[in-house]
Amino acid sequence: MSYDLIIIGSGPGGYVCAIRAAQLGMKVAVVEKMKTLGGTCLNIGCIPSKALLYASEMFDEAGHHLGPLGVVVAPPKLDLPTMMKHKDDTVAANVNGVAFLFKKNKIDWVKGEGRIAAPGKVVVKGEDGKESTLETKAIVIATGSDVARLPGVDIDEKTVVSSTGALSLAKVPERLMVVGAGVIGLELGSVWRRLGAEVTVVEFLDRILPGMDSEVAKQFQRLLEKQGFDFHLGHKVAKVEKGDGGLKATIEPAAGGDTRTIDADVVLVAIGRRPYTQNLGLEALGVAIDRGMVVVDDHFATNVPGVYAIGDVIRGPMLAHKAEDEGVAVAEILAGQAGHVNYNAIPGVVYTSPEIAAVGKTEDELKAEGVAYKVGKFPFTANGRARAMRHTDGFVKILADAATDRVLGAHIMGFGAGEMIHEAVVLMEFGGSSEDLARTCHAHPTMSEAVKEAAMAVEKRAIHI
Ligand code: FAD
Ligand code: NAI
Repeated sequence: MSYDLIIIGSGPGGYVCAIRAAQLGMKVAVVEKMKTLGGTCLNIGCIPSKALLYASEMFDEAGHHLGPLGVVVAPPKLDLPTMMKHKDDTVAANVNGVAFLFKKNKIDWVKGEGRIAAPGKVVVKGEDGKESTLETKAIVIATGSDVARLPGVDIDEKTVVSSTGALSLAKVPERLMVVGAGVIGLELGSVWRRLGAEVTVVEFLDRILPGMDSEVAKQFQRLLEKQGFDFHLGHKVAKVEKGDGGLKATIEPAAGGDTRTIDADVVLVAIGRRPYTQNLGLEALGVAIDRGMVVVDDHFATNVPGVYAIGDVIRGPMLAHKAEDEGVAVAEILAGQAGHVNYNAIPGVVYTSPEIAAVGKTEDELKAEGVAYKVGKFPFTANGRARAMRHTDGFVKILADAATDRVLGAHIMGFGAGEMIHEAVVLMEFGGSSEDLARTCHAHPTMSEAVKEAAMAVEKRAIHI
């Protein structure tokens, strides 16, 4: 078979690239080795984690937060198999949706493991071990990423788990130890905490959520502690031993010093992800790799003509929407259009309770870069809708250039932050100023009014504080 484009990997980078390329008239095939389409995100990442985050949040609401609203219910009972079925059904609906879109757009799904034999040649090894060779004008590597391992700690996905195992535990662990206070650790830690686990987080750095605004991270840590999280910052895990009474983890200060042990029933290793480049034939082909990542130029081209790469396997944040936008951009570039991704306006959301959402620069980054900036902040305690819903935790922070007023970053901690952040994303995409946002009419009463008030606070003219 001969194609215009073959994409290796059907995650949000690969499948979105395929659909856009098909829309632009290309004959497209996607090689995928998993049993279903959608990659990490749809099968074992974004989608199942959000299904469990929502369901566990409802369990927590019913158990602890309805009384003050005058809604009296009996303490809720957990039906974990049904909660897991909700997660599995959600995944099935999404991955089947991608299969439907492939049919609709006449995209071929070639099942098996893909390897690039030469520019324009992809060899696919099927489940039966048989190999077939496909010809193509262009190849996009969209093979994503895999769990980073902790030396000396074997992941069995039963008691010592990665995010994949943590999405399918058969029962609520009494004691869950999370290694890494990043996005996965705090999201999946929240799921099991809400369902009743004691959660201890061991983090190498002296803060949680590295990369997020440090003021947000500090306040968020306090809120998580109120929810029952126990943090050991500035520590690393030296080893995890299995015994009759469960697991014994030895932790030691990151800077060295006395060790101590923590007992746990389940240990979740969530110390990051690594680009996935194994068995692709990249070394033989001479594709440049830097620190595990496939090296690409501004047009997603590798150093080998006709071979491109997008998503988690290249530089930049490991986020589904970043992979999707790169997929669209490379398809448009291959069609002779001006595909482009604005890396300054990629939002990041942590789907905890409350949510954390950010776009653009943090205060820490602006200080390090020596940029003069103004800050506008507004707390949800002063927002009418937040009070009406008893969701007053958190605040909005807008960072604007001191000279031009152009918005450089926005940070929101609060209920629905992951939705509200998009008004700052659109604003930044258009190069807007804090005054543009402050003069934009916002419906009352909404949580989003806090975004407007934070923009007004940049010029010290917020109304409600
Ligand atoms: P992937 O989704 O990893 O897909 C790569 C695909 O390539 C896989 O299906 C793999 O089987 C296939 N593949 C690899 N090699 C071959 C080969 N040789 N032949 C054939 N197929 C191959 N991001 C967000 O933006 N929001 C979230 O809420 C979020 N939640 C997450 C939660 C968890 C628990 C995890 C683990 C990740 C989460 N992420 C989230 C990150 C997100 O999943 C990734 O950024 C995203 O999936 C990257 O997309 P991708 O297309 O680059 O690769
Ligand atoms: P992460 O990079 O977000 O966090 C890993 C944490 O582990 C860091 O705080 C790091 O300092 C710490 N760490 C590293 N080595 C350690 C050690 N030996 N001992 C203790 N702590 C250690 O990675 P995470 O949470 O695994 O997520 C992987 C990727 O998946 C992220 O890049 C993220 O973008 C993506 N993701 C995104 C989500 C979202 O957008 N909501 C949800 C889940 C994952």
